[in-house]
Amino acid sequence: MAAEGRFIVLEGIDGAGTTTQAQMLHDHLVGRSLSGWLTREPTDGPLGGFIRDALSGAVRTAEGERFAPSESAFCLLFAADRLEHSRVIEDMRAQGRHVVCDRYIMSSIAYQSRGPDISAERVIEINHGCARPDITFLLGVRVEECLRRLDGRGDSPTIYEKKDLLEAINRNYGAVRPVYERHFGQLIEVDGMQAPEKVHEEIASLLARHLQL
Ligand code: TYD
Repeated sequence: MAAEGRFIVLEGIDGAGTTTQAQMLHDHLVGRSLSGWLTREPTDGPLGGFIRDALSGAVRTAEGERFAPSESAFCLLFAADRLEHSRVIEDMRAQGRHVVCDRYIMSSIAYQSRGPDISAERVIEINHGCARPDITFLLGVRVEECLRRLDGRGDSPTIYEKKDLLEAINRNYGAVRPVYERHFGQLIEVDGMQAPEKVHEEIASLLARHLQL
C-alpha cells in the first residue's frame, strides 16, 4: 500500500498569488515523479460553483436583487463545500497522492470572522471533521500590491476585492494565526512580494525541510 499523501495548503488575501503558487508547487511535485492532486476552495463542485457565483454577485433573489448572504451564512456554505471536499482529499491521500490546495479553512477564519457576525472559534466548530493540513503557507503581500495585481487580471472581482476589506482581512490573517495553528498545525509565512519563481523556490525548500518532499 502507498504511504499516505501529504496535505499542503496555500493561503493569503486576494491577489497574494495562492493560485499561481499552488500550480507551481503541484508541477514541482509531479516533476519529481511524485503523485500530486491540485485542488482549490471554493471547489469546482456544485457547492463551490454556487459560492463563486454568489461571491461575484451573479446570484439574484426572487426580487432581482443581488443575493448578499451574511458572513455566517457564507461560512456555512464554505463549510458544506469543505466537508464534501475533505472526503475527496482524504481519499486522495489514502491513495498516496500529495494534495495541494489553493485556500482552505484559514480563508474561512480570516475572511468570515473579521466582523461581529461570527467568531473564529465558531468558524472552527462549524468546520468540525474537515481534513487537517500537514502544512500551510501564508503568502504575505501588501494590500496595494494585491490590488495592483487584481486590477491587471481583468476578471470579475469578488465582493472582498476592496482596499478597506482586504486590509481588514489581512489584519485578521495575522490575528487568527495562533488559533489556526492550535487546530490545524504548522503555518509558515512566506514573503509573497518577491517574484513568483522566488516565492516558489522558498516554498519548495521549506517543503523539503519540513515534510521531506
Ligand atoms: P477566488 O476567485 O478563487 O480568489 P483567489 O483566486 O484570489 O483565490 O475567490 C475566492 C474568494 O473566496 C476569495 O475572495 C476568498 C474567499 N473565501 C472566503 O471568504 N472563505 C473561504 O472559506 C474561502 C475558501 C474563500
